[in-house]
Amino acid sequence: MSACKPLRVSIVLPTYNERGNIEALLRQLLTLQGRFDLELLVVDDDSTDGTGELVRQLAREHPQLRLIRRIGRSGLASAIKEGLLDATGDVAVVMDSDGQHEPVSVLQAISTLQGEALDLVIGSRFHPEAQIHGLSERRETGSNWANASARFSLPGRYRDLSDYMSGFFALKLDPLLPLIRAVDVNGFKFLYELLAISRGRLRVTEVPLQFQARSYGSSKLDLAIFWDFLISILHSLSLRLLPRRAISFALVGASGVAVQLLTTQLLMALAGLTFGQALPVAVMAAASSNYLINNALTFRFQRLTGLALVKGLLKFLLVASLPVLANVGLASAYYSFVARDTLWAQLAGILVVFVWNYAASSRFVWNTP
Ligand code: GDD
Ligand code: MN
Repeated sequence: MSACKPLRVSIVLPTYNERGNIEALLRQLLTLQGRFDLELLVVDDDSTDGTGELVRQLAREHPQLRLIRRIGRSGLASAIKEGLLDATGDVAVVMDSDGQHEPVSVLQAISTLQGEALDLVIGSRFHPEAQIHGLSERRETGSNWANASARFSLPGRYRDLSDYMSGFFALKLDPLLPLIRAVDVNGFKFLYELLAISRGRLRVTEVPLQFQARSYGSSKLDLAIFWDFLISILHSLSLRLLPRRAISFALVGASGVAVQLLTTQLLMALAGLTFGQALPVAVMAAASSNYLINNALTFRFQRLTGLALVKGLLKFLLVASLPVLANVGLASAYYSFVARDTLWAQLAGILVVFVWNYAASSRFVWNTP
């Protein structure tokens, strides 16, 4: 590589319904072409507002611009991963496409990355010199909480960072590609996952962001994303041994226990049923609520709707009824043959039921391996 050859920079821009924002941003970014050998990669998840068509038109005029259009796959983290794996730059920058991140931060992040022999530079909203416009108080509290749990669950070397959830970061592609390839994309937060699997080996620093209010449209962050984040933290804390979906399934299962206990109480107290009458209803209520929550959270990328939702419920009840019998069998076998201890006998039964339910319903209800 000759000394005067400009640095090749790939900017990865995930989009979902950003028609009102993307063009102005792309035009601003294209002006960086003078300084770098530029590549702009828009990763669009089949937006319904015509973002893909607009970018396609622009790409005809600008050879630096490429559109990656994904059908039937979705999720911010997976879009970022795909963009990074397709990028051909020496350096890649990931940023939001809604105008909340500013092109000037790109320059600052790249010069920091190159100047200080680093692997990764994060644009931080919580750096002492950062400015935040357009982050509601609720979101800011949420981010603070999320950052605190992230700090606690990540390698100690990253303790001094302030924005583990940022959607803006710059990195060196060649050394990081193997790691990027290994990032688990079942989450919203690509950056957190990258840090979590790096085992503290990355040289990282932060630059302040001037975080702007969104120009058009609205945020795609929803409850499911917070759920994913909670799962990510527990996954890290389990030393990444427990599968993420199994953790989610277990938490939902725990909520089912609460539903069952509560329903039994209510039916007995208010409807005057006996325990024997209330129990089957409560078990059905708990199983159905587990099913619906798992469908909305644990398996939301395979989410069932309409008639399939009803069919799925029947399958789920079928799948779950077998181990209920097994549970009783196991618990009594443990009690008679292993130890006369009711607590451990029941826990042994519950563990087996959990593994069965998780494996069987992943396979037969939501058709995932
Ligand atoms: N391809 C693709 N697929 N892009 C997506 C998806 C998706 O499923 N979901 C969101 N995006 C794009 C949006 O179009 C936008 O360009 C960017 O990802 C960020 O999404 P927003 O919906 O604007 O997120 P936010 O502003 O609420 O969240 C901000 O804070 C988070 C941390 O709290 C962003 O900066 C996030 O990047 C950041 O993680
Ligand atoms: Mn945004």
